[in-house]
Amino acid sequence: MPSLDALFEAAKAIQDKAYAPYSRFKVGAAIATPDGRVFTGCNVENAAYPVGSCAEAGAISAMVAAGESRITQIVVMGEGEALVTPCGGCRQRIREFAAPDTPIHIAGPEGIRKSFTLDELLPFSFGPDNLAAR
Ligand code: THU
Repeated sequence: MPSLDALFEAAKAIQDKAYAPYSRFKVGAAIATPDGRVFTGCNVENAAYPVGSCAEAGAISAMVAAGESRITQIVVMGEGEALVTPCGGCRQRIREFAAPDTPIHIAGPEGIRKSFTLDELLPFSFGPDNLAAR
């Protein structure tokens, strides 16, 4: 298992790679998987603004491309003093691959600021079970 410290450092390193010339708001995300691997992503913006993608989406794509489909914890690193929690769409993206008690750690450059469970950020969520229950 990667330590939380290692996951934090991975999120910090990938944040620096973000392509965010429009918002100038760089975000990095690092995902840990059950076998101890770490997958990272950064936000990638576009001149056609709505086409940009979030850091969490990039990290999830890397994880899935590597054949993994379970998230054990995730660190999201944003800019500024406020908590940069995943946007609504990314909460749903994480939900597809995480359990209700999966920790989502919100970080700033100085360290982890606050930790939530997925269920705290996305209560009463819709997921694969809903489709299976038909
Ligand atoms: N952003 C993320 O990458 N993840 C989040 O959790 C919040 C927002 C990005 C999207 C956009 O490129 C920039 O931050 C400003 O919204």
